[in-house]
Amino acid sequence: MESIKEEIERLKKEKNAVLLAHYYVPQEVQEAADYVGDSYYLSKMAKQTDADMIVFAGVAFMGESAKILNPGKKVVLPDEKADCAMAHMASVEKVKQMRKKYEDLAVVCYINSTAELKTVSDVCVTSSNAVKIVSALPNQNIFFIPDGNLAAYVAEQVPEKHIIRNEGYCPVHDAVTADAVNKAKKEHPKAQLLVHPECTGEVLELADFVGSTSEIISYAKQAEAREFLIGTEEGVLYELRKSNPQKKFYSVMPQCCRDMKLVTLEKVRDSLKEEKYQVEVDEETRVLAQKALDKMLELAK
Ligand code: 13P
Ligand code: SF4
Repeated sequence: MESIKEEIERLKKEKNAVLLAHYYVPQEVQEAADYVGDSYYLSKMAKQTDADMIVFAGVAFMGESAKILNPGKKVVLPDEKADCAMAHMASVEKVKQMRKKYEDLAVVCYINSTAELKTVSDVCVTSSNAVKIVSALPNQNIFFIPDGNLAAYVAEQVPEKHIIRNEGYCPVHDAVTADAVNKAKKEHPKAQLLVHPECTGEVLELADFVGSTSEIISYAKQAEAREFLIGTEEGVLYELRKSNPQKKFYSVMPQCCRDMKLVTLEKVRDSLKEEKYQVEVDEETRVLAQKALDKMLELAK
């Protein structure tokens, strides 16, 4: 009898489908994927694939972005409830108010956001290109939505701009405290601390390196250190340990991203088989949101 993995492989071929997975989904789903990466890499892969169907092992905004970039393709999410809490933590109304208040304003939207928020934004960013893109914008005032922690990090890196923070946050990364990190540092005094910019400023201050999931993985590969404390969702530990068997990794995260963990191998199989749950974005929203995503892909090159 066919194993689930074999079934997935067969269905991918039959349907000319590609399986994209984020580093936070369960290990066995990452193993079955054609491409695993951070949000920027996955959006590029979604844009350039010639598959007829994209199965996105990730949360809603990821599937939505893939559909916005590929209106002609079937895009399916293995779990329709897998969502990113932060994606909803900004309002179109507030964006409109800011546009009235500031003349020279760019609205910069973290890709972890709903399609609706993208429609009122000038450009999207991910954690790996936010600093580069904000620096390249001609505007002096930047309203950065929805993540307040990433906004604060960008403000520190690009001091010449006036960055207006929104109050959204990732419940997973925001929950890490400086106390917990200091305790872990005492337990592992030789370890370097690598964190995601969705963590709070007090945690970022203690870090040896700040970057996206892919950047954390690349940093750990080339670093001379042998031990690392990891301040991002524990799903990255799979890739970190696989590609660095001689190094040690310890998570400082008090919780995982439950939505990413909803994406199981069985659901990936079912999504391929039954072509569910299809992502739909109405055309007016799609066209406007695509502008912000395309601008990101152009400026991040
Ligand atoms: P990356 O783009 O760094 O993979 O981050 C995605 C995310 O959801 C972080 O919480
Ligand atoms: Fe959203 Fe946080 Fe989960 Fe990333 S880890 S998908 S930002 S809730």
